[in-house]
Amino acid sequence: MGKTTLAVNFAIAAARAGREVLLIDGDEQATALTFTEFRSERGVHDFTAIALHGRAIRSQTPLLLPKYSDIFIDVGGRDTDGLRAALLVCDACLIPVRPRNPDVWAIPSMLTIVEEIRSIRECSVFTVLNAADATGQDNVEAAQYLASLGGTTYLASPLVNRKAWNSTFADGLGILEYSDAKAKAEFIALAHQLIDCRVQ
Ligand SMILES: Nc1ncnc2c1ncn2[C@@H]1O[C@H](COP(=O)(O)OP(=O)(O)O)[C@@H](O)[C@H]1O
Ligand SMILES: [Mg+2]
Repeated sequence: MGKTTLAVNFAIAAARAGREVLLIDGDEQATALTFTEFRSERGVHDFTAIALHGRAIRSQTPLLLPKYSDIFIDVGGRDTDGLRAALLVCDACLIPVRPRNPDVWAIPSMLTIVEEIRSIRECSVFTVLNAADATGQDNVEAAQYLASLGGTTYLASPLVNRKAWNSTFADGLGILEYSDAKAKAEFIALAHQLIDCRVQ
């Protein structure tokens, strides 16, 4: 949970840093495009968003690459052509995981798909806790489990369950543009950790 939320927030963060950003909505539910519409209605047009589905993600993304400094792809979590196509073109994949058993237990099957993709092309895969409790045993156990999994790097920068994430989404705003300092700090910590891992 939180795939679209993180995709749009990373797109906004990169755009705010002056990057030319493309957000590809690869999920039939088109939530990322809906968010972008909310944002446009506010008069903010700081990144380009398009919908690409299924294998078109694989064929079109390389053509778009020269035009943008950063491309973010939002895909659904099920094993679809779109998910596999996105894994085939991305450098890094971030999987947000709610620290609840059904969500955590779904990760190994995702990593099985990643392993299949890796036989064709390398891609870094990261997990992070999203909509986590402020403290508590569920977080600890989920974090330990995710950190124990091979083939993925667990980023110890959990995003806590905070109302701000839902409010900003409905308003077409990024968390960096909102007044919840804790949510903002958690997102920035995650972004830094992701960048640190990516530049190693
Ligand atoms: N850290 C969080 N705290 C509270 N609500 C969150 C958080 N992350 C996401 N949400 C909310 O959860 C819902 C689902 O998030 P979304 O990003 O659309 O999930 P996905 O794309 O993985 O299906 C949205 O209403 C979103 O605002
Ligand atoms: Mg989504």
